[in-house]
Amino acid sequence: MTNPTNFWAVVPAAGVGKRMQADRPKQYLPLGGKTVLEQTLLRLLQSGVFTAVAVAIAQDDPYWPGLELDGHEQIIVAPGGKERADSVLSALRVLADNAQEQDWVLVHDAARPCLTRMDINLLIENLQDDPIGGILAAASHDTLKSVDSTGITGTLDRNHIWRALTPQMFRFGLLKTALETFTGNPAITDESSALELMGFRPKIVEGRPDNIKITRPEDLALAEFFWGRQ
Ligand code: CTP
Ligand code: MG
Repeated sequence: MTNPTNFWAVVPAAGVGKRMQADRPKQYLPLGGKTVLEQTLLRLLQSGVFTAVAVAIAQDDPYWPGLELDGHEQIIVAPGGKERADSVLSALRVLADNAQEQDWVLVHDAARPCLTRMDINLLIENLQDDPIGGILAAASHDTLKSVDSTGITGTLDRNHIWRALTPQMFRFGLLKTALETFTGNPAITDESSALELMGFRPKIVEGRPDNIKITRPEDLALAEFFWGRQ
């Protein structure tokens, strides 16, 4: 008898939120009566898909202890790392005792609280028979320019350009190996880039445009708007 394929979630939540310029890391700003991080974790927990959710928390983080979800039976805390990729790898390592190579792991930014059940299901339906995995992505509606110090050097073909969102869904063993292989490489800004550098071709699945990442101060009001309408 073969083992069933488990689904695991990883939430990197160890950033400082420099661009947000708030008095605390953006994942702890308020949204809907809780913190952004709690709303993100609740979306994942309530999907009913995941065996466990590993969340990477900075070692000196004073905000996580005391949150209602600290100690939740399906949440495992991992120490955050220097870069996002280090935090993700740290979370994969705490899951490694229980996860199988062929299991699926969905990595989702703490700063994207507007993730819907619909997008989680869409990603899984499209990728679950794939040997590698892929990511939620969005088309760009604006014309895109390449630029250097002299000015605009060209117009990009939008048919070949997608914005990478999260969750990013990969086979557990492959993702862990890829992130271990490229530790410290600044080109690894998401999970997919590590798999790409290994020579794989991850798939894209078109996601909803309201799955925004809270990055700059104006994004919080936008997230509140989308979150409230969902
Ligand atoms: N992240 C992390 N560990 C790091 C850096 C980032 O877990 N060393 C997480 C963030 O908490 C966030 C996600 O990765 O949920 C996406 O990163 P980003 O939006 O860049 O968040 P920050 O790095 O916190 O923001 P900034 O780049 O503006 O400082
Ligand atoms: Mg960052």
